[in-house]
Amino acid sequence: MEIKDIELSEKEFSMVKERIFEVAGISLSDAKRTLVISRLSKVIKNLSINSFLDYLDFLKSSKASKKDAQDFVNALTTNLTRFYREDHHFDHLENYIKQIIGTKPRTSNNGKPRLRIWSAGCSSGQEPYTIAMCLYNKFPELKRWDFKILASDIDTEVLKKAAGGIYPETELAGLSANRAKMFERPGNGTIVIPKYIRETVIFKPLNLFHKWPIKGPFDAIFCRNVAIYFDKPIQNQLFSQLSEVLAPDGFMYIGHSENVGRNNPQFSLSGKTLYQYNAPQNSRAVA
Ligand SMILES: C[S@@+](CC[C@H](N)C(=O)[O-])C[C@H]1O[C@@H](n2cnc3c(N)ncnc32)[C@H](O)[C@@H]1O
Repeated sequence: MEIKDIELSEKEFSMVKERIFEVAGISLSDAKRTLVISRLSKVIKNLSINSFLDYLDFLKSSKASKKDAQDFVNALTTNLTRFYREDHHFDHLENYIKQIIGTKPRTSNNGKPRLRIWSAGCSSGQEPYTIAMCLYNKFPELKRWDFKILASDIDTEVLKKAAGGIYPETELAGLSANRAKMFERPGNGTIVIPKYIRETVIFKPLNLFHKWPIKGPFDAIFCRNVAIYFDKPIQNQLFSQLSEVLAPDGFMYIGHSENVGRNNPQFSLSGKTLYQYNAPQNSRAVA
């Protein structure tokens, strides 16, 4: 059944913008007005509420549950992603991990060589699974490593999809045979992420705008097409916080229209939208 949109006044639109900024650091542009109406109308109707104003009052009240607050956020995120998006990053990652394998990798408590990567703002999982697939394809020995990818997002709906590891077969479009062979194909129009790859990726809900319960260090961080939704001060704060959990000389990969600023001493530009962390000299010995 088609859901009729609810009218949104300028004042109500400003209130929606204020709330998503306060909760998630997201700056919604005026161009997102139609999206706000269509996405939130469904949520509002499901609550049997009739106007944006009543809905926003409801969210502030003690009647609203955590799920109601989360539904508001889930409705307003943009989750566009795909396998091997901006694939020059994966060529660079392969070369970088080759160097780590060839030199002396860090070791875990269990004595195994350790590799940690974070996909921050992972959406429905294509990014972290691409990281795992491209690395296992190139370096099968990583199956014997302590190799984990943390994949986090503020949107709990996309994380559910991500954890399932099942996608429509159409998502293989444009992938080479070498890349496509990493997926299982049960023959029912879907592609499935193999178990050993799903077990490498740990999905967690995490708001990048809040304090993180994360220590690192990560050898690489992918935070791509996420900062674009934040204003400059929040972007700067985000990149600075990400540098704190990167290993010395670790790499950060960002989206095609993002940059960390020309004069940021924490990072050196190493290629198109990829940066190496310049750790302070005295921190190099500890990671
Ligand atoms: C366009 S997707 C990018 C997905 C993937 N990184 C890529 O480049 O293909 C942006 C993701 O950032 C997430 N996001 C937005 N604000 C966030 C926040 N404050 N904390 C964590 N994730 C956030 C959204 O939920 C969305 O899934």
